[in-house]
Amino acid sequence: MAREAETKNKLALLGGEKAVKSDQADMFTWPIVTERHEKAVLDVLRAGQMSGFELTKEFEKKYAQMLGRKYGLAYHNGTAAILGAMYGLGIGVGDEIIVPSLTYWATAAPAYTLGATPVFADVDPDTICIDPKDIEHRITPRTKAIMVVHYAGMPADMDAIEKIAAKHNLKIIEDCSHAHGALYKGKEIGTFGDTAAFSLMTGKSLAVGEAGILFTDDRQVYERALLFGHYIRHDEITLPELKPFVGLPCGGYKHRMHQLSSAFGLVQLELYAKQMAEIDKAMHYFCDLLEDTSGIRPIRPPKGGDTTKGGWYFPLFKYLTEELEGLSLSRFSEAVRAEGSICNPGCNKPLHVHPFFTTMDVYGHGRPTRIAYLDESAKMESYVERLPVAESINRRVFGVPWFKHHRPDIIREHADAYRKVVTNYRALLPGDSGGDAEIGQYSTFFTSRKDTQ
Ligand SMILES: Cc1ncc(COP(=O)(O)O)c(C=O)c1O
Repeated sequence: MAREAETKNKLALLGGEKAVKSDQADMFTWPIVTERHEKAVLDVLRAGQMSGFELTKEFEKKYAQMLGRKYGLAYHNGTAAILGAMYGLGIGVGDEIIVPSLTYWATAAPAYTLGATPVFADVDPDTICIDPKDIEHRITPRTKAIMVVHYAGMPADMDAIEKIAAKHNLKIIEDCSHAHGALYKGKEIGTFGDTAAFSLMTGKSLAVGEAGILFTDDRQVYERALLFGHYIRHDEITLPELKPFVGLPCGGYKHRMHQLSSAFGLVQLELYAKQMAEIDKAMHYFCDLLEDTSGIRPIRPPKGGDTTKGGWYFPLFKYLTEELEGLSLSRFSEAVRAEGSICNPGCNKPLHVHPFFTTMDVYGHGRPTRIAYLDESAKMESYVERLPVAESINRRVFGVPWFKHHRPDIIREHADAYRKVVTNYRALLPGDSGGDAEIGQYSTFFTSRKDTQ
């Protein structure tokens, strides 16, 4: 008996049996492609409508109705939708936008294109979204907008952010690329900002393909975004100040969404609520199983409340090394992976320390692009941020399995893998050579349908 228990407890990394033994089948396959999707896409192909926009408009209308926003404008990717949202709001040369440092680069980089300067703020260690306490002191007379990212599915603290924006007369842009369908206090994310942008690329929770979408209730934002990158739809432009410029895309961009994606997206919109409900159930079940486990804590809103994580894109847990005698996150995650589960240490690397935002002169202005459009007196030193949470969070969080189906038997095996490593963490201390300094990434390269995470 004792021997059996010993074998069961022996970590797979040290020669024991794996905790995850069963066939995972389509547990992680994403997106879920049905015959309906195939037919919808083939219909577009056969009709030669890949570059049309009728289905795209249908997609925009349907999604905007579901979200309860007046206007939706689709893009060929989320990055372009963010650029369109910024331009739509009138952000331009010499303006500053306050952005969280912990996000994918596309939240901030399009500011450069418009001659604007991103100013980075720290994130809250509990939500990993922009920390409202780190915003106000960064506001200057040049600040135009606060960019909010609902990071890894977790809604940002919108009450506090809206208060700051109202007090200083700032616009809010929501980057909702990680949080399709998530609720903040009962209200869907994407309905808070003056404008909101979503990536809909294949890896996202609402996975459409290479695509993005912007939402707003403001006709001016919508028409400016049309003017900037949707020349073929300039007949929709009504505002007298924009009318003289119709005909050519006034940003020099062509932002049209590919209609194979629009067709696929229309089917996805119908299926998403059901998929989201299943994912929510599965993820809460997994989190509940691990709720009281030392060293790790799920990052999630309270269960059954009116704040939710939508489709749980990129689910994260906190790592508390101090509860595991300083065991490095790298070693911990290596051991969990050896058990057959998924454990990806870290998250996005902080943007504010990358040379693109500290030194690089992208367009040949003779000084860093970050300050290139400000008056000559602007110094880079005033744009060098110290953001302690963003700079250390990669050693404090890890990605867990993103279950697409509520299959308790399989989910329990993954939870067992985590618990086994935590229970036996002492066996990992002797071989622990650290290695947490390099954790984190600026991007994940995504090429094909994911059957494993
Ligand atoms: C937070 C965030 N914003 C924007 C984007 C950009 O979207 P896309 O890849 O569709 O251009 C992404 C995509 O990965 C993202 O994660």
